[in-house]
Parts: sequence; structure tokens; C-alpha cells
Amino acid sequence: MEIQRLPGFRDFYPEDCAFRNYIFDTWRSVANSFAFQEYDGPILEPTDLYRKKSGEELKTQLFRFNDLGGRDVCLRPEMTPTVARLVAARERDFKKPIKWFSISPFFRFEKPQKGRLREHYQINCDIFGDNSVAADGELISLAIELHRAFGLREEDFFVRLSNRDLWAGFLRERNEPEDRLSEFLGIIDKLERDPEEVTKAKLASFGLGISEIRDFLRTSPEQIPGFEPLLRELRWRGLERFVELDLTIVRGLDYYTGLVFELFDRKKANRSLAGGGRYDDLVSAISDGSVDLPAAGFAIGDVVLTNLINEVDHSRSAATEALKRRRLNFFVVIADEGHRVDALQLVSSLRRDGASVDFALQAAKVGRQFQQAEAIGASQAVVVGQEWPEIRLKTLADRTERILSSEYLCKNWKDIAKA
Ligand code: HAM
Repeated sequence: MEIQRLPGFRDFYPEDCAFRNYIFDTWRSVANSFAFQEYDGPILEPTDLYRKKSGEELKTQLFRFNDLGGRDVCLRPEMTPTVARLVAARERDFKKPIKWFSISPFFRFEKPQKGRLREHYQINCDIFGDNSVAADGELISLAIELHRAFGLREEDFFVRLSNRDLWAGFLRERNEPEDRLSEFLGIIDKLERDPEEVTKAKLASFGLGISEIRDFLRTSPEQIPGFEPLLRELRWRGLERFVELDLTIVRGLDYYTGLVFELFDRKKANRSLAGGGRYDDLVSAISDGSVDLPAAGFAIGDVVLTNLINEVDHSRSAATEALKRRRLNFFVVIADEGHRVDALQLVSSLRRDGASVDFALQAAKVGRQFQQAEAIGASQAVVVGQEWPEIRLKTLADRTERILSSEYLCKNWKDIAKA
């Protein structure tokens, strides 16, 4: 029987890898522009790391097993507990605020569906050691710019902002026990997806009606402490119009302490693009109280983002343009085998100087070599023949040609490749 790929996992053929690299390179360059530093951690972690505060749903989705040494381990489902562990372990070595990012794969045993797979990539961006609204503003701005960099605009996506403290206050006012907050947030989290009857039944156990929830959801931004200062942070950066208050956002992970947010496409035709918030107690929980640092951050997944880029015309064309710019610079066509040595020297010196260059490994007719150059997506063909050291340079897109010396090509290839 033919062995199939596991459900919810992806193969990355070269064109898929090219697209993935486009996403990763764009993420990396935006994160660098915000002065975030890159880190990474292990893909396999002790299961205990997720027992502390990750949330009930995630715990049921772990790829979990015993390793050959009998340790209870799992493939990481998210980065936050790992980065909290890293920071706690060497907290004194880093100047605050710590602004870190990573790009890496994660594993969750979810039902594979549009926007949700069992392996996906995330960029995680987090700030440790600063509990101000300025840090929240910096993170939300970064989340927005990480999407704008793909040509996505205000009409394509937005940030839904909320704060868990408001719901904690809501329960307190109704004399509900605090230890049921997590269970209650679970109901709010599923409000959009659960049928109304299901929500009503769940709320009944709190003695609450759905109308009370609906009224509370209509709370105006002015009534919410801390919302205006955050909005001001974004206004100063020209990003205010990307955000909306939406109290249905509470996030499914247990460690969030206050501000929470998620990014969605405007049509809400996809699952969340990104999610995050403040988690001021996690570092302390992970380090058993030995280090206490406020923290906030978010992660963007590659699956929904890729879907959205492909659905939005201007974003898809931006991707096509960017991928075109990554084409092979030159294909050296060897028109006269007597000059193969010269051709190889030319190929090598261009490659050593940073150009991407290919050529036919075996002798072949010139026409076939040109076909190979086209098939591989080269921008220009360099024909090496009897005129050597003169060469013929042909731009494959418009078929224009010119004669120049190989020495001139080597010296000026960057300008020639740009043209
Ligand atoms: P999360 O909301 O679980 O947050 O995931 C963040 C993003 O990862 C989601 O919005 C989605 O784009 C993507 N994602 C999650 N699960 C899947 C899946 N099964 N398939 C495809 N994409 C998926 C966290 O993971 C938090 N640790 C984020 C964070 C960082 N909070 C603070 N710092």
C-alpha cells in the first residue's frame, strides 16, 4: 500500500517553499524593523510545561508520547510557555524591555479544515519587562504592520481588542465565584461559533441570561479604562482605523491576564489570522515564583495568512511581484562546447559574487538550453559562444538582446539583473 502523508500535514514542493520563504522573509524583516531579536527553542518539550496555564482545549490537542527514556513529552503546540521558560532562566542577562520574535512550526491535533491544520508555522512576538500601554501599542502596531507588509489593507483585515478584566468584573458584580472565570470565558470564546441554544444552556449554570451578555457586549469604548490610551498609541502611528473594540474576544488560553486581541479578515470568512494578549503571571508560574516579569505578545499563523493573501487581489499580485524578483538572475547558454571551460569560469565568478546562475550540465542544442532557461524562470540568458570573451545577453521577458564583454557583465551584473 502506498504510504500517504498524515492528515493535517503539508508537503512543501519548491513553489510552496518559495511562498513560505516569502512569508518568513517578510515577517523577519518587519520584526527586525521593530528592533525585535530572533530566538528559538526546542520542538519537543516536557508535557508539564503545558500543564501550568495553557488552557483546556490545547491540552486535548497535544501530540504527546513517552520518549525512549520514559519522559512524558510533546511536540510544542505553541511558543509562549517555551519563551517564558527561556526568559525566566536567564532574566538577568537581558536589558528590559526584552523584545523577541521567532518563526517556527507548531503541532496541534485539531480537526483539519480550512485555516486549521495539525502542523503550522507561527511568528511569535513578545515583550517582557514592560507592563505599559506603550508596550501593548508597540505589539499591536507590529501585528498590523506584519500584515500590511503583504499588501493587505484596512479594508482587508482588522484587530479585535478586548480585555479579560472586564469579564472578571462582570462576574464579580454578579457575585459569581472567581474560580469559574476560565469556564465562563470559554462560553464567551465560543459565542460566535456555538448555536444560541447551546450558549443559553451553558449560561444557565451561572444563572445568567444571554440578554445580560448581549447588553454587556454593547459597552462603549469610553466606558473602558485603558482603552483610550491604547487607541492613542495607535492613532499616533496612523493605525487607529485598524482596531475595534469587541468584547467577544477572550482567547482560549488560560495565561492571559488583561488585554487580549485577535486579527481577522474583514469579511470574517476565515479563522483568526493572529491572536495574543498580556500574560503578566506566566513567567512567575513557569519559574515557580523565582522570576516575576510582566509580558505580552501575539502569534500569527501562516495558514490563514496564506489563504487571505491568495483571496485578496492586490495582496496576491504583491506576492507574485515579490516572487518574480527572486527569480534566477542568469542562465548561461553554452552555444559552443569548445568554450565550456570559459562558461564555467563565468558561472563560478558570478555565483561567488552573489548572483544566482544556472547552466546545462550536459551538452545540448542552443534551443533546448533556452527552453531550460525559460522553464527554470531565469530573467536573462547569457550566451557563451565563438565570440568569447564577448557574450550575448538576452532578456527573456521581452527577448531584447545586446552584446557585451564577459568582464563587463561580471563587474555590472547587479545593475544588469535589476534592469
Ligand atoms: P493562538 O491563537 O492559539 O495563540 O494561535 C495564534 C495563531 O496561530 C492563530 O490565530 C492562527 O493563525 C494560528 N493557528 C493556531 N492553531 C492553528 C492550526 N491548528 N492550524 C493553523 N493555524 C493555527 C497562540 O498560540 C499564543 N501562544 C500566541 C501568543 C504569543 N500569545 C502571547 N504570545
